[in-house]
Amino acid sequence: MTKPITAVLAGAGNRGAEAYGRYAQQHPAEIQFVAVAEPHPQRRARSAQTHGIPAARQFTTWEELFAAGQLADVAFITTQDQLHTAPTLAALELGYDILLEKPMAPTLAENIQLVQAAERAGRLLQIGHVLRYTTFFSKLHEIIKSGRLGKIISVEHRENVSYWHMSHSFVRGNWRNRALSSPMILAKCCHDLDILYWNLGPCAQLNSFGSLLHYRAANAPAGAPERCTAGCPVADTCPWNAVSLYQKKLPLQRHLADPEAIANYYGWPISVITEDYTPEGIRHALETGPYGRCVYHCDNDVVDNQIVNLQMESGATVALFMQGHSHREGRTMRYDGTRATLRGAFFFDEQRLEIHDHLTGQTEVIDATPGPIGGSGHGGGDAGLMRAFIHAVRHPETALTTARESLESHLMAFAADQARVENQIINLAAFRRQAEQLTA
Ligand SMILES: NC(=O)c1ccc[n+]([C@@H]2O[C@H](COP(=O)([O-])OP(=O)(O)OC[C@H]3O[C@@H](n4cnc5c(N)ncnc54)[C@H](O)[C@@H]3O)[C@@H](O)[C@H]2O)c1
Repeated sequence: MTKPITAVLAGAGNRGAEAYGRYAQQHPAEIQFVAVAEPHPQRRARSAQTHGIPAARQFTTWEELFAAGQLADVAFITTQDQLHTAPTLAALELGYDILLEKPMAPTLAENIQLVQAAERAGRLLQIGHVLRYTTFFSKLHEIIKSGRLGKIISVEHRENVSYWHMSHSFVRGNWRNRALSSPMILAKCCHDLDILYWNLGPCAQLNSFGSLLHYRAANAPAGAPERCTAGCPVADTCPWNAVSLYQKKLPLQRHLADPEAIANYYGWPISVITEDYTPEGIRHALETGPYGRCVYHCDNDVVDNQIVNLQMESGATVALFMQGHSHREGRTMRYDGTRATLRGAFFFDEQRLEIHDHLTGQTEVIDATPGPIGGSGHGGGDAGLMRAFIHAVRHPETALTTARESLESHLMAFAADQARVENQIINLAAFRRQAEQLTA
C-alpha cells in the first residue's frame, strides 16, 4: 500500500482546519498533517491535537514553520488573502508542492510573481478552485466538451450570494474591505471565472458595472445603533439582525427541521465568529466582535452587485452576475448552444442540470448530486480538490489545472475590477501581456 503524503499547514483557520484538515482526519491513509503554523493558540492546539502533531512541529507563524526547512511533501497555505504571497514563495523555495487557497493574491503583480516562481521551481501550485472538482461542474464541463450543446453562443452565469452570506463575509467579515482583502469580483467570482475559462476558453474583451448599493450608512434605519445587541428599534424587521442570524441561527432553520440539530450546530459561519459556542460566548462575540455590527455601520466598501460582460475568443458572449441579495445561496446558469440549451442550478441542497434539445424537443434532466465524497463543503468540491491534489502530487501529469491556468480567472477578475472602476472596455490579450511584465 502507498504511504500517505505528508503535509504542513500554514493557517489553521476555517479552510485550513475545517476543509483540508477535516479531509485528512477522515482519510488518514491518504494524507497526514505533520506540522502546523497558526498564531491563534486555541486553533493551533486544536489542529495539533486533531492530527497528533508533536510540540516541536507546532509553530506560531508561517515564517517559523518554513525556517525549519522542508518537513513534509506538501504545504497548505490557507492564511488570509493578504498573506498568501510571502509564504507561498518561501514554500516553493524549500521545494514543497503547494495547495494555495484562492484568490492566489490580492494584487495582479503578486499573482504573476507566484505563477512565475512556481514555473521556475517546477513545483505543483494548485489553487483552491473547488468548483472544478464537484460532480455538478465536472458534468457541466463534460457536456460542453462532448459537443452535445453544439457551438456555445451565449452564456448567463449568476453567482447569487444570499443576503446573510453577503452580510457575514462581505459586509461584517473578512472580505468586506478591498484594501484589507481583495476586490469582491476576485474574492467571490474567481471560481466562476475559472469555470467560464475552463468551459469556453480565454476571454477576448470585457467590461463591467457594479457598486455598493445597499450596505452603507445612508441606508441605515433611523435610530439603528452601531451594534444589533444595543437595542435596535428595527431588530424584529431587519433580515441582517446579528442576533437572529448567529444566536437564533435563522438561516439554518430553513435547512434543518430538528431543533436539537440546530442548537448543536457550530460549523461555518458560527465557527468564524467565536471559539466559545455557548449562548453566552456567541452573545459576547456579537457584543464585542465584528459580526455584531449593524450592516449599515461597518467599514465595508466591496460591491454588492456587479455585472461582467465578456466576449470570449471563441466569439461566445457571457454575462456574469454577482449580487449579494439572494433569498437562496447558489449559482445558476444557462448555456445556449446551436444544438441545445442547458440550464443549471448549483445550490447547497439541489444540484441539477437540464438539457433541452433543439432537434428532438426533449428535455433531459441530469443527476448532478454529488457522489460518495459529496458530504463535504462546496457541493463536494472541498473533498474533490483534496483527492485530486493528493493524486497530482504523485502523478503531476494528472493535475486538472495549473497555476498558469488559474491565473486566467484572476486576470479576468482584475480586468473586470479595473473596467468597473474606470468605466473601460478591456482587451485581455493586452492586459495579459502587460501583467506579465509587472513586478511585485
Ligand atoms: N476555496 C474556497 O472556496 C474558499 C472559501 C473561503 C475562503 N477561502 C480563502 O481561504 C483563505 C483562508 O480563509 P479562512 O476563512 O480559512 O480564514 P481564517 O481567518 O479562518 O484562517 C486564516 C488563519 O491564518 C492564521 N494566520 C494569521 N497569520 C498567520 C501567520 N503569520 N502564519 C500562519 N497562520 C497565520 C489566522 O490566525 C487564521 O486562523 C482566504 O484566502 C480565503 O479567501 C477560500
